[in-house]
Amino acid sequence: MTQTIAFPDAKTDPAALRASLRDLRSVLRVADASAPALMPEALGDASFLRDHGVRYAYALGSMANGIASVELVEAGAKAGLLGFFGSAGLPPERVEEAVDRLQKSLGELPFGVNLIHSPNEPALEAAVCDLLLRRGVRLAEASAFMALTPSIVRYRLTGLRRGADGRVLAPNKIVAKVSRSEVAERFLSPAPEALVRELVAAGRLTADEAALAAEVPMAQDVTVEADSGGHTDNRPLISLLPAIIALRDRVARRYGYARAPRVGAAGGIATPASVAAAHMMGAAYVLTGSVNQACVESGSSDQVRRMLAQAGQADVAMAPAADMFELGVKVQILKRGTMFAMRAAKLYEIYRAYDSIEALPAAVRQPLERDLFRESLDAAWEKTRAFFLQRDPAQAERAQRDPKHKLALVFRSYLGQASRWANAGVADRALDYQIWCGPAMGAFNEWTAGSFLAAPENRRAAVVARNLLYGAAVSTRAHFLRCQGVVLDPETARVEPLAAEELDRHLN
Ligand SMILES: Cc1cc2nc3c(=O)[nH]c(=O)nc-3n(C[C@H](O)[C@H](O)[C@H](O)COP(=O)(O)O)c2cc1C
Repeated sequence: MTQTIAFPDAKTDPAALRASLRDLRSVLRVADASAPALMPEALGDASFLRDHGVRYAYALGSMANGIASVELVEAGAKAGLLGFFGSAGLPPERVEEAVDRLQKSLGELPFGVNLIHSPNEPALEAAVCDLLLRRGVRLAEASAFMALTPSIVRYRLTGLRRGADGRVLAPNKIVAKVSRSEVAERFLSPAPEALVRELVAAGRLTADEAALAAEVPMAQDVTVEADSGGHTDNRPLISLLPAIIALRDRVARRYGYARAPRVGAAGGIATPASVAAAHMMGAAYVLTGSVNQACVESGSSDQVRRMLAQAGQADVAMAPAADMFELGVKVQILKRGTMFAMRAAKLYEIYRAYDSIEALPAAVRQPLERDLFRESLDAAWEKTRAFFLQRDPAQAERAQRDPKHKLALVFRSYLGQASRWANAGVADRALDYQIWCGPAMGAFNEWTAGSFLAAPENRRAAVVARNLLYGAAVSTRAHFLRCQGVVLDPETARVEPLAAEELDRHLN
């Protein structure tokens, strides 16, 4: 029930004003200014809540190798958030197991799975697409796409039909992660005609589905990802988000959609202020990553969670990526407490300078064998080869013909294992841990310092997310008052983390 609480000015009874600001159901009047009642459900786009069947416009982004675990997705779904299972890097059988469990444990509650573009492994991308279609997974987080592929187009268009009201219904929803306008435009636009024709000719789409393709955007939600953990273009949200919202408006006008796609925000979001700011800039929803890896439900290890809890905003660095190593692509990782950034950079430098394992001088080769691989590079190659013979035999065959490719695969195997050692908490590999992480982690640690959320074992995904949403609502109300000339003292406006029971009291 909404009630109005009035104060003659911001100076009278600061404790009561502070409490009233936090009572989100109340309309607050301070002298001539007012702040409306504002529950966190009102932050973001109401159609996001309706379409996805969630309580909050808040998503937990995919994190590879099951770091965005089944447990994380379940915790999110039960709290009214939209979680994406981190399928990247996992074989299709593991993804199917996760889908199986989520469908059973969540019933009607929504969840999605990452459909990641794999330029080196198109068969894997197609296999995950097939799996999602076969298992009726209706929501995918599309990421790492530069151009659209037959798989992602097939996923989106399968099942397209015209509803009773004349609008085209798309049973498969895509939340597309982008950090560049040109990629955003592809997802904001309908599927390219040439690809649609190709899929029809191959019997992978029906003529009826193809005929409706021009009326829907490839993605009904586009997440603008600013400087983040993992793959990132390191762009600031404050400049990128408004540009892509404006692009969405132009593209939606061009195609005259019945419903324009929504634009959400990710990258650096880990405090009440950043959630509030994203919404203030027009984000339809927010999506977090780094902060969720630090939560107890993530598929990472306690060792990593402890390291993440120590991170400051500047304790991150860019390091060569395992998946696009040869192209010089980098990912953002935790620098503090590991030597991974330095070691991975060294591997890339060596890869650029030499054309084969055999060409490495002893002075280069020996430290690698001693410190990084802890075995001879020949032995490392044998293991790498066995891995690729199972996963993608074409890579192993190419490496036999092309010694530089062989060098790349061996180096990539170290980078890939470095992430697995971190997830498994392999103690004697702590210096090699590759932990994807953005400055959001440090921001969260700064905000939670001295509170119960500073302890890694207390970081539960739903408590974290609900605190950010609650705090964002409080901050937004304080902002409204400030915009009307009310001067709030810092203590009145400050939001600190609340325990689960107290959150329930404010939010339920
Ligand atoms: C450990 C980790 C792994 C990630 N793996 C993936 C992934 O496999 N696919 C993907 O789309 N995004 C991935 N991301 C990005 C997140 O889904 C999210 O977009 C990003 O972390 C948001 O920025 P933030 O880290 O500043 O919160 C990953 C992020 C982290 C921290």
